[in-house]
Amino acid sequence: MSTPTPTLNLDSIQGDVLQGLAKKFEIFLFGAITDATKFREQLRDIIPLITTTTQALADAQKIADHKAQGHSNYLKLVGTNIAFSQKGLDALGITDDLGDAIFKQGMLADASAGAQGLGDPGVVTGTSVDPDWDPRFKEEIDFLILITGDSTSTISERLHQIEKILAGSFKVIIQLEGVVRPGAEKGHEHFGFKDCLSQPRVTGFNTPNTGEVPTQPGVIIVGQTGDGVTRPDWAKDGSFLAFRQLKQLVPEFNKFLADNPIPDPGLTPEQGSELLGARLVGRWKSGAPIDRDPTADNPADAADPNKVNDFDYSDDLTAQTRCPFSAHLRKTNPRNGTIPVLQGVQTKRIMRQGMPYGQEVTEEEAQSQTTRHNRGLLFVCYQSNLANGFHFLQKTWANNAGFPIAGTGQDPLIGQNVNNPKTTTGLDPLNVASSLTSPLFVLPQGGEYFFSPSIAALNTTFAAN
Ligand code: HEM
Repeated sequence: MSTPTPTLNLDSIQGDVLQGLAKKFEIFLFGAITDATKFREQLRDIIPLITTTTQALADAQKIADHKAQGHSNYLKLVGTNIAFSQKGLDALGITDDLGDAIFKQGMLADASAGAQGLGDPGVVTGTSVDPDWDPRFKEEIDFLILITGDSTSTISERLHQIEKILAGSFKVIIQLEGVVRPGAEKGHEHFGFKDCLSQPRVTGFNTPNTGEVPTQPGVIIVGQTGDGVTRPDWAKDGSFLAFRQLKQLVPEFNKFLADNPIPDPGLTPEQGSELLGARLVGRWKSGAPIDRDPTADNPADAADPNKVNDFDYSDDLTAQTRCPFSAHLRKTNPRNGTIPVLQGVQTKRIMRQGMPYGQEVTEEEAQSQTTRHNRGLLFVCYQSNLANGFHFLQKTWANNAGFPIAGTGQDPLIGQNVNNPKTTTGLDPLNVASSLTSPLFVLPQGGEYFFSPSIAALNTTFAAN
């Protein structure tokens, strides 16, 4: 029996959720509402500026056509999305319960709960942690406006337009700027690895490439097939947005790789360090998956959509000779690589739409092997249920030294347990029982949980009628 393909309302789902907004630059505006009545009225004029999925798809097509015609310059394109925290819903007087306890309590509470929550480092008092966040993230944040574009002037123009419309009803709490890395590093995060190669393929939106397994739309979109929670009608076609500012200590990470090359006599120290990096992540810097290419990089695999995700660890269930259990990729999406095979692994998928921030590593930072400038990832992911999505991945898989089996250790990129250093096994393919201890190379600076409503909900429930 075939399952009917769900119909997704792409004119109502915001553009960043499934497709992603076209972005070379991005502004993240975190605001607090100071006059709710005025804000609701002004929102009427913001709604026409919101990029729908239909528009985001059309923009992506325009870019593809422009490139196919041989142009290398960027097309002038701007995108805008909006999302609200629980405090934002409260401020607007929207009292319906969205049915997500983690969203309701907010990210600060989650980050303050030690091992019961996200495990962010900070000052511990009893069972509570005061996380080492930028203090502005501890203030009330009601909404997040995302503005994307081809240039800083395009996004500034849109920002000024929005500030003018919302004049007198909000104050800026934080504004962050993301930028795609330059030249050959385009599409790579700051540690140097190609990012966003594995995304859920959502039934009714796009089709899986070889090796990819379809994800039910309700895993990402509220109210669609696969979302088992009862919520208010207006929440349909929305999605929960988890935002994290994650600082990356790049020179320190590089020093760690240089100091701990995989001790394979067949490899030079440089090759041993490169292999260690690949085994920490689960992919080579090019993006080639180590489950397919365990001993050497294979840029052809990285470039082929039918190869880049054509693996599931089932050929390496116990040995870890191809990919360590602890690798970031295997921790956050174990595919079929656990004994027993995890049921429902496709319900634990997130759509990642983050953006690097900060400047490139300077000569001085590289030489002193010390970070002087704040850089990292403005992490954004969408899901219909935070307890299955970001919160689950961080707490139950990445931070859990016993996942998938006792003794694995934490995710070497994002695993954390308040202030402890991390110990990880499986990294040396010739001696998988050996362990490596490292400090944290990714430091949370703050964040919040938001809800990205459909355009229909913005009209009926958020804006004044
Ligand atoms: C600064 C922090 C982070 C860095 C440098 C980083 C880096 C990467 C890289 C290089 C990849 C491989 C590209 C790909 O397969 O798409 C990846 C994949 C992934 N990351 Fe992260 N990441 C970070 C934070 C996070 C966080 C906070 C989460 C969730 C809690 C996360 C979840 C994932 C998932 C789900 C995948 C895809 C796994 C798969 O489907 O095989 N990442 N990450």
